[in-house]
Amino acid sequence: MAIEKLGVVGCGLMGSGIAQTAAQAGLHVTVREVSTELIDKGFANIDKSLARLLQRGTLTAVERDAARNRLQRTTKLEDLAGCDLIIEAITEQLAAKRELFRALDQVCRPQTIYASNTSSLSITEMAVATRRPECFVGLHFFNPVPIMKLVEVIRTIATDPRVYEEVAALAGRLGKTAVRTSDRTGFVVNRLLVPYLLDAVRALEEGVAAIPDIDQAMKLGCGHPMGPLTLLDFVGLDTTYYIANIMYDEFKERRFAPPPLLKRMVTAGWNGRKSGRGFYDYSDPENPKPMALV
Ligand code: 3HC
Repeated sequence: MAIEKLGVVGCGLMGSGIAQTAAQAGLHVTVREVSTELIDKGFANIDKSLARLLQRGTLTAVERDAARNRLQRTTKLEDLAGCDLIIEAITEQLAAKRELFRALDQVCRPQTIYASNTSSLSITEMAVATRRPECFVGLHFFNPVPIMKLVEVIRTIATDPRVYEEVAALAGRLGKTAVRTSDRTGFVVNRLLVPYLLDAVRALEEGVAAIPDIDQAMKLGCGHPMGPLTLLDFVGLDTTYYIANIMYDEFKERRFAPPPLLKRMVTAGWNGRKSGRGFYDYSDPENPKPMALV
């Protein structure tokens, strides 16, 4: 079965990026959010991102309009009934995700493939909530989705190998490189990235260097596009804290334990770029200033 019709559930940062990328690749995409307000906000982000791609010459105006015409918005789950593949990108709560997939089972054809964009929750625990664990995979995209070239394609012990290959091939059609991985908490990227980010916070806590110096060290010393503290602000401190706790619960290893400073910042609501404050102050977004934290 060729995947032509895609459903995306959730139109936040990740869902809107996934929907946009798929529409640019020629797929027909229906995006579902819980309210008109949220879906409109997600589509405004898509328009902004398409405008950036047009401006840098990655996309022509004709291609932008064609991509835009392949995108439908809805607040009804039933409108996803005809989809070949549905990618879930809602809030990172296992119970909410399991409930969503159970509800999708009521409206979708038996052969519709389900995928979750979770960064750290168990794909197997979602798959067993459905009547089709063999048609269930993980598809983990990276932020910003239209730019980042990787997608992790995750199989569980119950995934049908033909379904897995079909989804891995789709990643290529989306212009991404697929990395194949199994359902182990954090997959490949977060298993390596999260301890690195947490170590950067520990280095700050221990007075190894100041915020801009830690960032410069990794940018200029290792050729990373962003230093770790800037990346934490970009990903969201709350998101990283949440993922770290899941990984710590799973492995009980110190390297996944969130440092106290990260916990205090999340408690204070300093979640990074999206909340205006994190390791940097974004009052002037073009010129972030390091915060006085330790
Ligand atoms: N849509 C369209 N275009 C975008 C975009 C978006 N959402 N975001 C950035 N761009 C474009 C810009 O227009 C710009 O185009 P240009 O080269 O023609 O000027 C280009 O990308 C570069 O952007 P900027 O000039 O604004 O800034 P940078 O050069 O610093 O690049 C970045 C931004 C691509 C985000 C780069 O800093 C980067 O790669 N950072 C690391 C991101 C990363 O590590 N992401 C993974 C996070 S982990 C994750 O997602 C997993 C989760 O589970 C936690």
